[in-house]
Amino acid sequence: MIFSSSLRSAARRGFVTNAPVNGFDGAIGNTPLIYLKGLSERIGSKIYGKAEFQNPGGSVKDRAALGLINNAEKLGLLKPGGTVVEGTAGNTGIGLAHVCRAKGYKCVIYMPNTQSQEKIDLLRMLGADVRPVPAVAYENPKNYNHQAKEYAESLPNAVWTNQFDNVANAQAHYDTTGPEIWEQTGGKVDGFICATGTGGTLAGVGRYLKEKSGGKTQVWIADPPGSVLTSYVNSGGKLTERSGSSITEGIGQGRITDNLGTFVKQVDGAFTVPDEKSIAMLYELLETEGLYLGASTALNVVAAYELAQKLGKGSSVVTILADGAYRYQSRLFSKKWLEAKGLSGAIPEHLKKYSVLE
Ligand SMILES: Cc1ncc(COP(=O)(O)O)c(C=O)c1O
Repeated sequence: MIFSSSLRSAARRGFVTNAPVNGFDGAIGNTPLIYLKGLSERIGSKIYGKAEFQNPGGSVKDRAALGLINNAEKLGLLKPGGTVVEGTAGNTGIGLAHVCRAKGYKCVIYMPNTQSQEKIDLLRMLGADVRPVPAVAYENPKNYNHQAKEYAESLPNAVWTNQFDNVANAQAHYDTTGPEIWEQTGGKVDGFICATGTGGTLAGVGRYLKEKSGGKTQVWIADPPGSVLTSYVNSGGKLTERSGSSITEGIGQGRITDNLGTFVKQVDGAFTVPDEKSIAMLYELLETEGLYLGASTALNVVAAYELAQKLGKGSSVVTILADGAYRYQSRLFSKKWLEAKGLSGAIPEHLKKYSVLE
């Protein structure tokens, strides 16, 4: 087989090879970096999206799930037949449930009882023991995160993966997502921007790109309404009360998690993207790029588009395509839901053809 030298070095690191991979875990990562052609040409810059929706569990959180479980194994906290416990209502639970099946662990997921039946059903179909509990504030000891921790502590050979404050999450992105982006752009990445939930993706990728570029790559946070990170970064580190809300899921934060804390001082800037712009981009991505992606991804692409304009013509900006629209389609493409959220008017006339559901 003939390899060019760059392909050979990529193959050595596990990128760009057609060799079989080892099980579900082996299929996580090495996602394509998609040049968003239509959007890029419109502004004369290069906008790239890391296709994390192509991970085998369907989202960027597969990497964190594998990183958290590998770390627990390395620390000797999890042995064959053990139990993984997490408090999550979203993609992390899906990633953990898959990895647990693949590695033979039990998976217990605590979530607020306000979550949709589809989410509960999906996790159960993936073999998880799902425990919906009353939706109470983080300060309340009955909050789903605290219950997850307590339950794990009550069992032998069990671990609470603690995605928000266990820095094995950001480390997984430092070890894999960051190097992949560096390799795929040939080191030409002027800006990286994404929204944060745990902050694992932003902090892990951001730290890697800053180190490799000698500080040249700018790393920005994109925030949904109702998140405090934009004001935190722009005020030089003051935390404000959370107010407002967003249609996006999996992102937005009211505090500096330990994962984000590993990097937040090096962040170059932050701005908030209103839901009106995110929903318009969600439809635009279908029309212009042929991509069917979730609302956090749409927000990320708006942010990358705006950051590329700030950095100037010819700049290269990378963001994260976190998951597909499949899990949200009954809302995002429903005329009634958009109307109820006051977002119908945000979708340009020529894109309204995509809201096909009543
Ligand atoms: C759809 C989606 N986008 C973005 C994120 C944020 O990623 P991170 O937790 O690494 O900040 C999440 C996290 O759950 C998510 O589910």
